[in-house]
Amino acid sequence: MKKLYIIANWKSNNTSVDAAAWLSHITAQSAAVDIHEKSIIVCPPFHLLSQINASLQENNSAISVGAQDVSPFSQGAYTGEINAQQLKEVAQYTIIGHSERRKYFQETDDLLTQKVLKALEHDLIPIFCVQDETTFVPDGVKIVAYEPITAIGTGTPDTPENAQKVIEAIKMKYPQVESVLYGGSVSSDNVALFTKIPCIDGVLVGGASLDAQKFIQIIFNS
Ligand code: PGA
Repeated sequence: MKKLYIIANWKSNNTSVDAAAWLSHITAQSAAVDIHEKSIIVCPPFHLLSQINASLQENNSAISVGAQDVSPFSQGAYTGEINAQQLKEVAQYTIIGHSERRKYFQETDDLLTQKVLKALEHDLIPIFCVQDETTFVPDGVKIVAYEPITAIGTGTPDTPENAQKVIEAIKMKYPQVESVLYGGSVSSDNVALFTKIPCIDGVLVGGASLDAQKFIQIIFNS
C-alpha cells in the first residue's frame, strides 16, 4: 500500500494561541492514524515552528513539522532570511517554490534550485511545488506537489482525471521524484477523489488545514 502525505500549509495565518488550540485537537485525534499509511506534516509560519515542534515532541506525536520556505543562502549577513541549518533544528521538511512565492516574491527557477540545494545540504526534505508538468524540478527533489494556480484558494479543485494526467506526466519526466501530491481546494469532501488514484501520493492542503476539525476529517477521509 502506498504511503500518503497529508500536508497542512498554513501560509501567513495563525498566532501561537491558534496553534496551541489546533495542536490540542490534532494530537489527540491523530493518534488513531496509522503512521505506516499516512505521513502528516504541518507547515506553520516561521515564528511558530519551534513551539509546534516542541509540543509535538512532548506529546510523542507522529506528526512532522515543515517550514514554508528556506533561504537560498547559508548562515551570514542576509537580513530577514532563515537558513536550512537553522530550520533543521525545528523542522524535517520545507515547502519550496509555492506559486505564491513565485508570484509575489518573483522567485525564479534558479533561485528555487539554490533553495533546494541548501535544504538538501542540511537534510531538510524539500516539498517542491509545481504548476504543471512543464515546471522545472531541480535535481534531488523527491516530493513534488502539483498545484494548479486556478485551483489554489478558489474552491474549484482540478478534476481528478486531469490531476492524474499531469502527475503521471511529472513522474515520467522526473523519474527521481518518488511522490507527487495534489494541492488546490482540497476538502474533506473531495480528498478521496484524489488519494484513491494510484499515482497520487497525498495532498497539500491550504485553507481547510487551518480548521483542526476539517483537517482531521481530511486525514480520515484520505
Ligand atoms: P488551498 O491552498 O487548499 O487553500 O487551495 C493550497 C496551497 O496553496 O497549498
